[in-house]
This record gives sequence, C-alpha cells and structure tokens, in this order.
Amino acid sequence: MIDKQCEQILDKYHNEKGSVISILQDMQESFGYIREDVINWFAERLNIPSSNFFGVTTFYAQFYLKPRGKNIITACCGTACHVKGSGPIISKIRKELKLPAGETTSSDGKFTVESVACVGACSIAPVFIANKKVFGKMTSEKAAEMLKEIDKGKGV
Ligand code: FES
Repeated sequence: MIDKQCEQILDKYHNEKGSVISILQDMQESFGYIREDVINWFAERLNIPSSNFFGVTTFYAQFYLKPRGKNIITACCGTACHVKGSGPIISKIRKELKLPAGETTSSDGKFTVESVACVGACSIAPVFIANKKVFGKMTSEKAAEMLKEIDKGKGV
C-alpha cells in the first residue's frame, strides 16, 4: 500500500532530487501527515538523507508530523483577539474536547485545535476558524454550540 502511493508520487516528479517540498506536499496529501516510514522510503529511493526531508518539514508550518483531526479549529492568537478574550475560549474548547496539555488533536481523532497569529480580521475579534468557516466575535457559548454542531455531523 505504502509502496504504491509512494511510487505514484515519485513518478510525478521523475525521481528529481530537487522536488523535496513538492514531494512532502504530496506525501501529506496522500497520507494525511508526514510519516517517518514514508520519508525513509523516499530518502532511500532518491538517495537523499532523511534529515533533509525532516529539515524542510520542521521549517514550514504547512507540514504536520502527527495525524490531524477530521475537523480543524483554528484560534487566532493575535493581539486584538488576545485582548478580546480568545485565551479563555481556547481553554474552554480544549476542556470540552478533553485535550491533555501539549496535545492538539482529540483522542478520537475528531478535532484538532491549533492557533495562528493575526488572521487579518481584527475588527471582529476574537476570531476562530472551524473547517475554513470564519467565526467572529466568538464567545464561549458560541464555541460550545459550534463544537456541538460539528460533532453531530452537521458541519459548520
Ligand atoms: S488579532 Fe485576531 S484577527 Fe487580528
């Protein structure tokens, strides 16, 4: 299974050694995140040290070394959102999802909660994004409702 998916990616780049970022993008698209065994597969086939792949992966925020949840909740932690109370709302969401300290993805794989710097919508702070839908002037109550709707499978 891994071989077939990797071969497809490799074919696309014609074994070019300079395609590390593109290969990582396809790898993430195909496997959901950057897997160590998959990196090792490419490193061997392209005769590139695995550390080159890991170096790029850890440099760019777009790559994930752990599986992410089915639903992505992004909290803006820029100054305006922070001042308008994003912190307690994030804590409430994390508590609701029973996320242990340091974890971003719920144990059932349903949710990932992550934070970003200013998303450029300060006038509607605090801003949260759930599965690409923007929620402005977020409150703890609205956040709880949002999680419930997503969990019921209604989406947002
Ligand atoms: S600080 Fe959150 S949108 Fe600007």
